[in-house]
Amino acid sequence: MICWTNRETAFKNNPTGTLGFVGFFNDGKVIQSVNQEVLRQVALSKGAWDRVAFVKFAQNFPVHAYNVASGRLDTGYMRHRRVLNPAFNDNLYRHVWEETVLAFDGLRETAKWSERDVLVLPDLIDLMSAVTLFIIAKVGFGVDLPWDDSTKGGEAMVLRESFEVISKNFIWRGLLPEWMFRLPIEGLKKIKFAGDYLLDDLRAKIKTRRAATKDMAADYSSPEDHDIFGRLLIASDAEVQGQRLDDDELASNTFIMLFAGHETSSKALSITLGLLACHPEEQEKLYQVVKDVVPEDRAAAFEDYESLSPLRNAILEALRLYPVAPILFREAYEDTTLIVPGLPEPLVVEKGTIFIGDYIGVGWDPTRYPSPSVFIPSRWTSYDVLAADSYVSFGMGIHTCIGRRFALYEMVCYLALFLREWRVFPGDLKEGETLSAWRKRVMEDDLGLAVTIAPQRVPVKLERR
Ligand code: HEM
Repeated sequence: MICWTNRETAFKNNPTGTLGFVGFFNDGKVIQSVNQEVLRQVALSKGAWDRVAFVKFAQNFPVHAYNVASGRLDTGYMRHRRVLNPAFNDNLYRHVWEETVLAFDGLRETAKWSERDVLVLPDLIDLMSAVTLFIIAKVGFGVDLPWDDSTKGGEAMVLRESFEVISKNFIWRGLLPEWMFRLPIEGLKKIKFAGDYLLDDLRAKIKTRRAATKDMAADYSSPEDHDIFGRLLIASDAEVQGQRLDDDELASNTFIMLFAGHETSSKALSITLGLLACHPEEQEKLYQVVKDVVPEDRAAAFEDYESLSPLRNAILEALRLYPVAPILFREAYEDTTLIVPGLPEPLVVEKGTIFIGDYIGVGWDPTRYPSPSVFIPSRWTSYDVLAADSYVSFGMGIHTCIGRRFALYEMVCYLALFLREWRVFPGDLKEGETLSAWRKRVMEDDLGLAVTIAPQRVPVKLERR
């Protein structure tokens, strides 16, 4: 449905970049657009357009409790966002940075990378998925997941497996009816067990932490509680700006971080490294930046982030080409109109119309991004991360990604540590295959389109610098 196969022709074939379906789905009341101006009107709307109602089934956990990623204006969305917003601050990003350094070291030690000069990794996404899961478990929930499997059968391992199962199957837990989880199907039983286990664990923590933080002010800077869950608990109990979350909403908002902040970052990081593998000149430029900013004799520090902005630009460019969360999915909650550039009259939109805004089409629009298929990180040199509406891959408007800076700190830090130590090459280059042919084969021809998009796998070879 979204425009991957026609990404280079979407605007040539239809200069408005906007189509109305007259098919069977939703009585034909579907509008699809790759035009950023049209997407912006929908995303910025405060009433006429909002999330499609059934998203709650895929995003709520526990299933009756809304969170910031499932709520709509008419179901109390702003209350969730108001409690969460202040928690996403520099204290949190510093924590993200420190945990990223630890995650890099943890993987290196467990996989014994320091003893190797050459590594062949069949799938970077798989590996990065473990890394970002460890980071979000710690920064989101305050949980230390074990790196190795030596504790198999123990409590720590059950916790790790539960995190893995739920982060991969979050959507199914809400979408499938409860009775299905009672069927003797191993996969479903695992999902139910993992969900119940994590929810019980979180509810127990709410009790313990509430007792410990009873008199704390909501300044979000307490060292003991600087994970997202702890910050939300304090904020909610202190009723910041009169807003409160009940215990299940608190759990639901903590869990959504696991889902929203794990797979997106691991895929984005893998895609960036895959692109750098087939653009050695860009990789070399970044290596020189890392060498200057973070010399070998010291650890990467939170304060290095701004000086590492060329790395951030490479990530933004990778996400322009392959936006891992590719759709702005909305529903019209009243009759409304859209101004579509190229149409003589405003487009009349009936209540109930579904809108599919296509970030791939936006990113590949040649009028905005000349030579759209070319990987040019320097396009983003003067981009301001906080002015989010000029960059679509983290969303736009009222539901813009709350974790975008979290993700950027995490990815920039990991990328710096990775490039400082390793030169990255395509892992399975065939005889006579050029780098651009590898990029097409691995990164574009075999793309998985589900809730997120990414290559099926990114095989790389690493050589020690
Ligand atoms: C590369 C990484 C990431 C990408 C590309 C990404 C992308 C997006 C996009 C496009 C949206 C908007 C969805 C919509 O319009 O309906 C979004 C929303 C959201 N993201 Fe992210 N995200 C990333 C990382 C993260 C992280 C690390 C977290 C949390 C720690 C996070 C938490 C959320 C939440 C809670 C929302 C819903 C916000 C709201 O509706 O108020 N994301 N993300």
